[in-house]
Amino acid sequence: MRIATPRRYLMCPPAYFRVSYCINPWMDPSKPVDQALALFQWEDLRDRYRALGHTVELLDPLAGLPDMVFAANGATVVDGRVLGARFAHPERTQEAPAHLAWFRAHGFADEVREPEHVNEGEGDFAVTASWILAGQGFRSSPLAHDEAQVFFGRPVISLELTDPRYYHLDTALSVLDDAADEIMYYPGAFSPTSREVLARLFPDALLATSEDAAVLGLNAVSDGRNVLLPRSAAGLREPLRARGFAPVPVDMSELHKAGGSVKCCTQELRPPG
Ligand code: ARG
Repeated sequence: MRIATPRRYLMCPPAYFRVSYCINPWMDPSKPVDQALALFQWEDLRDRYRALGHTVELLDPLAGLPDMVFAANGATVVDGRVLGARFAHPERTQEAPAHLAWFRAHGFADEVREPEHVNEGEGDFAVTASWILAGQGFRSSPLAHDEAQVFFGRPVISLELTDPRYYHLDTALSVLDDAADEIMYYPGAFSPTSREVLARLFPDALLATSEDAAVLGLNAVSDGRNVLLPRSAAGLREPLRARGFAPVPVDMSELHKAGGSVKCCTQELRPPG
C-alpha cells in the first residue's frame, strides 16, 4: 500500500573520515575509528539506494574535512532551489563552498542562495508536504528559519532542540511520507512547547523510544515505502512495518562515532515541483 518514489541523493565518500575534534557528545577523538569499515558501510548505503532505483550523485571529498561525509549538512534543496549552508563550527566551514560549487557545476547555478544566517542544511531542515520543519538550539540560527521561509516560499515551523545528543533536527525526527505529513520523532529531544507544536501538527506520528533515539534510529531516510535506518534501532522496525513501511536496516556503526548515521550521509535533491 505504500508507494516508493524515485529520489535523487547527494553523497560524499568518507575518504578522509576520522574523529579528530569534538563538536557533539558522540565524538571522542581518543576512540579509534576503522576507516576501511566506515567506507564499506557508506558504500553499502550508496549501493542500497541504487538497488532501490534511486540516483546517487557524488561530491568529491576534501582532505582536512573529516565530517564532509555528512552531506546532508551542506545544503537544502526544495523545488530545485538550493539554500547553501553556513556552519556553526569553524572545523566545518569549508564544506559549505564545496557544496555551492557542486550545485553551480550541476545545473543549479540560477537557483543557488548563499545564506546569510547559520544553517546546517538538512541537518536542521526536514521537508513534509505542508511545511519545512526547522531545528534550532545547537546549530542552525532561528534567523535561518525565516531566511528559508522567504527563499523557498514554504511555511517553516521552528522547533527547539534541548538535548545535546540530538543537536540536529535529523537526529530526533524523520519524515516518513513527504507526500503527506507523516513523521517519526523522539519527543524527549524537544522543548515542551515544541512538543506541543509537533503533537498538534502530527497527531498520528510514530513516537520513538529513548532507546531507539539513543542509537540514532531517527536518522533515517524514507522514499515513501522503504525506510533505511540504523541496524541498531531494532525497536522501530515493527512499528514501521505496522504502518506499511519496509524497514531496511543498515550498519553505520563507524559513522555513529562522529554523531551521524543514514540521513546525515544523504542529502536529498528535490526537483522543481
Ligand atoms: N560530526 C558532525 C557534526 O557534529 C556530524 C554531523 C551529522 N549530520 C547530521 N545531519 N546530523 O557536525
